[in-house]
Amino acid sequence: MGFMNGMDTKLEQDSFILAVETSCDETSVSVVKNGREVLSNLIFSQIETHKAFGGVVPEVASRKHVESITLMLQEAAQQSGISPDKLSAVAVTQGPGLVGALLVGIMAAKSLAFALDKPLIGTHHIAGHIYANRLVQEISYPSIALVVSGGHTELVLMEDEGQFKLIGRTRDDAVGEAYDKVARALGFPYPGGPYVDRLAHEAENSADLPRSWLEPDSFDFSFSGLKSAVLNVLNQSKMRGETPDIAGIARGFQESVIEVLVEKAIRAMRMTGASELLLCGGVAANRGLREALAARCEREGITLRIPPLAYCTDNAAMIGAAAYLKLTHGEFAPQTMKAEPGLSLEEWSVGS
Ligand code: KG4
Ligand code: ZN
Repeated sequence: MGFMNGMDTKLEQDSFILAVETSCDETSVSVVKNGREVLSNLIFSQIETHKAFGGVVPEVASRKHVESITLMLQEAAQQSGISPDKLSAVAVTQGPGLVGALLVGIMAAKSLAFALDKPLIGTHHIAGHIYANRLVQEISYPSIALVVSGGHTELVLMEDEGQFKLIGRTRDDAVGEAYDKVARALGFPYPGGPYVDRLAHEAENSADLPRSWLEPDSFDFSFSGLKSAVLNVLNQSKMRGETPDIAGIARGFQESVIEVLVEKAIRAMRMTGASELLLCGGVAANRGLREALAARCEREGITLRIPPLAYCTDNAAMIGAAAYLKLTHGEFAPQTMKAEPGLSLEEWSVGS
């Protein structure tokens, strides 16, 4: 049996999904109409709290989610103008993410679904990042998604709507994680990605740093060697009693990351004959990456889509967009659904 395409899976009536996202350090609740129209999207970032610790502290994240989730559910529902009895389903990020943080959203979503007698949809966080693109425009298939965030670096092939095939992933650090670690070594607060990005643009020189290509035909990534190379350069200048060229290191690091990401994404497009490249995740905010990918795609005649920044970083609207895939297929989760910190994207594909 072939996969249903987007046209076959439209519902006859308008649908309204209330979606919850608590997988990491953003508490977010949204109401999404028909998988693409955002009626409300509240985001509470805990970054200020975690900054003091230099990274996300899981226990603190869970506690902060508990503090804000109930009020945010009420507020998001109210702002959407949709009365709770009109909701088609309650969706929540089931994984991947921090187990304690996921649990808070799951408990809240289950309680609401139970009280309103609505179906529950367990949603994959990365499917959310990818389907953030649909909040802007319909996706055409086959397409390739380059997912770049604090927790993930993946190349995903979608032959059709809701069909996910992982063709590449990081073997060590996620790209955002590498940015944050390098930023920390260069003396910037968490999350340091935006500081490195800004500095890279101001730099006059560029430190010579390695590119990690792995095996010639591999779509996997590795960023830990690059991170170590940055630490080495810093240590060497310290030992020589010199002031390190922080800007030059930031630029060299960024150039290495971007070159590998762009090259592998373009190669994946060519190999699969995909019609669109979707860039998503928090690191999609990176100016250098956006510019380099846009220029390369233009040269290659490839259609590139990047969601607005508000939908690139963690948010519940993207979870509503991905949950719509399951709603149209009637794939609901039981009240016994558990948090899955290592939830597989491929297994989450619709109809599987
Ligand atoms: O998608 P996201 O909000 O959270 C996860 O799901 O991980 O991504 C956050 C990551 C952080 O590592 C942050 O440093 C990085 O995105 N980031 C950036 C930029 N803006 C955010 N990295 C590089 N350049 C940026 N401009
Ligand atoms: Zn994310």
